[in-house]
Amino acid sequence: MDLMDAIKGRRSIRKYKPDPVPEETLQIVLEAVRLAPSWANTQCCEVIVLKDSKVKSRLATALPNTNPALSSVTEAPIVLVLCGIKGISGFYKGQPRTEKGDWLMFDIGLAMQNLCLAAHGLGLGTVVVGNFNHQKAAEILGVPQNIEVVAMTPLGYPISAGGAPKRKEISEFVFYEKYSGK
Ligand SMILES: Cc1cc2nc3c(=O)[nH]c(=O)nc-3n(C[C@H](O)[C@H](O)[C@H](O)COP(=O)(O)O)c2cc1C
Repeated sequence: MDLMDAIKGRRSIRKYKPDPVPEETLQIVLEAVRLAPSWANTQCCEVIVLKDSKVKSRLATALPNTNPALSSVTEAPIVLVLCGIKGISGFYKGQPRTEKGDWLMFDIGLAMQNLCLAAHGLGLGTVVVGNFNHQKAAEILGVPQNIEVVAMTPLGYPISAGGAPKRKEISEFVFYEKYSGK
């Protein structure tokens, strides 16, 4: 698939077929995570792969009932939970390099986007899920204090994709030579 076609065609998928994802296909998606860029190649990203329906159901209790992705966490054959090792991305000799502190959210975002695009290229659906109780998710999955649970995505074959939500025009968010937004 052409890269721009993949970028244009990827949609958040919230309805999944129960069909299993072959292990080789899962490994390609994980390879896309492995190859994502990171601060000074610090590679803070870690992934928890969930296939057990009991574990997925427990994890779903960390999502608010209002989250439109709630049912996809139990319905998709796989859920991937992306975590970040704290205190390495954006750090040098234990000290933050910038006033922004830990860049793990940024690095996990890059890894997640690689994941979503690779999955789409393989005919799989994903939806980034960030609205949940992260502390509860960490307890359910046994994630220690030095690791931050950031986001999860179901992974599976889509039943249907929604329409493309409207995006801003380029002219609405791109400025030349100096910031000229409102
Ligand atoms: C950081 C982040 C967190 C998100 N959290 C959720 C979520 O908790 N539940 C959900 O249904 N969608 C979530 N989304 C998906 C967005 O709603 C979706 O990407 C956006 O509406 C654009 O739609 P598209 O992905 O089809 O282009 C999240 C997306 C991002 C990038």
